[in-house]
Parts: sequence; C-alpha cells; structure tokens
Amino acid sequence: MTEPHAYAVHRSWDRDYHIIERTEGVYLYDTAGKRYIDGTGGSSVVVSIGHGVKEVPAAMHRQAEEFSFYPAHAFSNQVFRDLSERIVKMAPGTMRGNAKVWITCTGTDATDDAIRLARQYWVEKDVMSKYVVITRWQAFHGNNIAIAGYSGITGRRSIFQPMFVDSPHIPPAFCYRCPFEMERATCRLKCARVLETTIRQVGAENVAAFIAEPVVGAALGVAPAPDGYFEVIRDICDRYDVLFIIDEVMTGFGRIGTTWGIEQWGVTPDIIATAKGITSGYTPLSAVLAHNDIWQPLIDNNSPFKAGHTLNANAVSCAGAMAVLDYLEENDLVERSAAMGAYLLEQMRAKLLPHPTVGDVRGRGLMAGFELVADKVTKEPFDPALHVSKRLEDIAFERGLITYPCTGSVDGYAGDMTLLAPPLIITCEQIDEMVDILDASIGELEAQLA
Ligand SMILES: Cc1ncc(COP(=O)(O)O)c(C=O)c1O
Repeated sequence: MTEPHAYAVHRSWDRDYHIIERTEGVYLYDTAGKRYIDGTGGSSVVVSIGHGVKEVPAAMHRQAEEFSFYPAHAFSNQVFRDLSERIVKMAPGTMRGNAKVWITCTGTDATDDAIRLARQYWVEKDVMSKYVVITRWQAFHGNNIAIAGYSGITGRRSIFQPMFVDSPHIPPAFCYRCPFEMERATCRLKCARVLETTIRQVGAENVAAFIAEPVVGAALGVAPAPDGYFEVIRDICDRYDVLFIIDEVMTGFGRIGTTWGIEQWGVTPDIIATAKGITSGYTPLSAVLAHNDIWQPLIDNNSPFKAGHTLNANAVSCAGAMAVLDYLEENDLVERSAAMGAYLLEQMRAKLLPHPTVGDVRGRGLMAGFELVADKVTKEPFDPALHVSKRLEDIAFERGLITYPCTGSVDGYAGDMTLLAPPLIITCEQIDEMVDILDASIGELEAQLA
C-alpha cells in the first residue's frame, strides 16, 4: 500500500486509493485500465440506472445552460415543481396524489428534515410536549450530529455520544440474530410490539415520531423487516398519535423491487425521506415526501417549514432526477430489480451459503447481503480485530468486484457482513460473474483465516 495523498482527506489513512477514470453500465475503470463490477451501486446502494447514461448529464447540461442557481427565497423553478408532482404521483398508498414534496440535498438532510417536520407538525397543532423520536439500534439514518444520535450504528456514534439528544432506541427487526432470542413462528413480532412498551415508558404525550428503514442497509448488511412488522408499527403509531417516518434513502425508487420499500408491507407512512436512487448518484438530491395532513397545520398557521439549505431544490439536480426517473420507467427497472434480485439471491444461496464462514444470505430485490461467522452452528462472530469483512472487500477488489463491508450485527461491534446492491440494469451473466468472484474471494479469505 502506498502513502495517503498529502492534501485530500480520504476515508482511510493507511493506504492510497486507485483513481477512477470512467464508468459505464455496471462497470468502473481505474486509471490503470482495470475493470471492476460495481457490486454496491456506489458507497452504498445509490446507482440505480447504471453508470454513464448520457441522457442524465444531457438534461442537467440543458438546465445549467438556462440557469443553475437563483435566489430561492424570491423565485421557484419549474423543474422542481415538475419533479415534486411526479414524486407525489408515484407515492405509496394514500399519499398518492395527496402529498407534498420538499427537495433538499443529501440523505441526511432528508431524514433530518423529516424529523423537523414531525416536530413542527405537533408544535403547529399546539401539542408542544411531543419531541421524542424513537429509533432502532443497528439502524442508519445519516451523519450529521443529530442524526448520528438518532441512528444506531455504535461505532459511528461512539465519540459523539456526549453531544446527542437523549432518544430511545428499540432493538432491530433482525431474525438471523433475533434480539429477543425468539423464533419467527412464535415471536408474534415482539421486535415491533416493543415500540408500544417504549412509547408508554417515555409517555406518548412526549413522542413525536418513530423512524425506521424498511430494509436495514449498512448497519445490518441488508436486513429486511419480517412480514407483518410495519403493519404492527403502523397500528401502534396510530393508537399513540406518533408519526411514522420511513427512511427510504436506500430503498426508494425500485431498489427492492417496488417503487417504495414500504409498499411491500402494505402500509402508508406519514413521512418518507428518500435520496440516492432518485438521481442514481449523478447529482446530489434528496426529498421529504409527506401526506397533506402533515403539511396542513403549517399551512393553517401560515407557518413556513422551519428547515432549508442554500442548494435546496437545485434546478440542475432536479433536471437530473427527472432524467433518471424517465430512464427507470422506460426501461422497467423496478420490475427488473425484483426479477434480478431473485436471481442474485438464488445464486448467493447456491454458491456462497455452502462456505463454512457464510452464516446467512439475505435480501430483497437488488439489495442483498451475507454474514460471515466463525461458527455456522452457534453463529459465533469473528473477533472484530480480524477485520474479516474488510479483508473480504480487499480480496474482492483485487479480483475486480466492489463490495461494501459492514460490522456490528451482534452488538454494534462484532459481526461481519457484506452488502451488495448492483445497478438495477445488471444482467444474469453479470450476476454470475459477481457471485463467482465472491465465491473465490471467500475461499481465499477462508484459506487466510485457517
Ligand atoms: C438508510 C439511510 N438513511 C440516510 C442516509 C444518509 O444519506 P447521505 O449519506 O446521503 O447523507 C443513508 C446513507 O447511507 C442511509 O443508508
């Protein structure tokens, strides 16, 4: 490994990075001409329509030639309005045609603003006491100081812990390592029902909202909530006047085989935070989508939404998002995600699960993951000091596949996982290539560990 760059701060200090030169479809090429499969759709779960789709930069270029930036306190822009209308027409359940959209920049902005909206909703209704946001352990909702606190990734929280607001975290919905050590057949979804206990302990009069990802991404190496989970959550939120925010930053726009992840549980949230797939990474843009009922108290009080960033509703990014959504629709990529996702999972089960270190393979649509264990029967994790998932990432990288290593499935520290989320355009042949590389890489890792 060479020395890190003298001026640019990267994620790791212990190495320098290969420089990326160009991208196309599911492939990335570095300046040495080496080709990699983008097995994670960026870092991570971003690239939906594939790399190098010319229509997207062309749409952004056309918009930039008209204007890119303007005083947003004084004007609106048409493409922002068009994108908002389009998203509302795609919205899940009772939100469809009955919601409004706030466009901002990053996934963290979206979850932060979703939580702001929840608090402001109660304040505008004169319910001043409701401010607590209940979240889950091993969840990730973003990376500013507030949201890192609401998130449940222990390693990313640790040094900032004293700066967080005190907010309750319930255990994750994670069947492979059920936090209640129960079996799915008899658990009656205790992981969902515990929300009610927590609301009662905190006092429903204090609780503004509950936030969750439909499929936990980076924090649990892809863990879809069990069937029925969000139905129970919705019911509890309704009974205790708690807003239900779904974090669709990773899952929105087809990633798990439906436009929205939450559709697969058949319930409608009050507020959705979304990002990543909406622009497929071509440009930063995120959105908060909320039912009209949630915006109404602000409108009634003529009270502006108390959030906002300088680059919100950026016209060039909105034009990029419109072009991405066109491509997604014209190429039926949502349906493709479901079909290719089923194939990916089947191949992973066939070729990866037989490895002695692969304890679990899981996923929905083209969001999949697997867990690496020291003992398959007891599910004993590897010693975190071995950095097993990181080592697998390095081996797969050398073999031309980008994977995303995750840790902490057991207790926030131990528990090695690998996340996969290739672009939705991936073919069966490319999935075969991906899984074959993983198969060989896991074999190499196992030989090292032995
Ligand atoms: C579920 C989820 N929510 C929020 C975020 C934050 O998004 P961003 O990194 O764009 O701020 C992420 C990022 O990975 C995420 O996975």
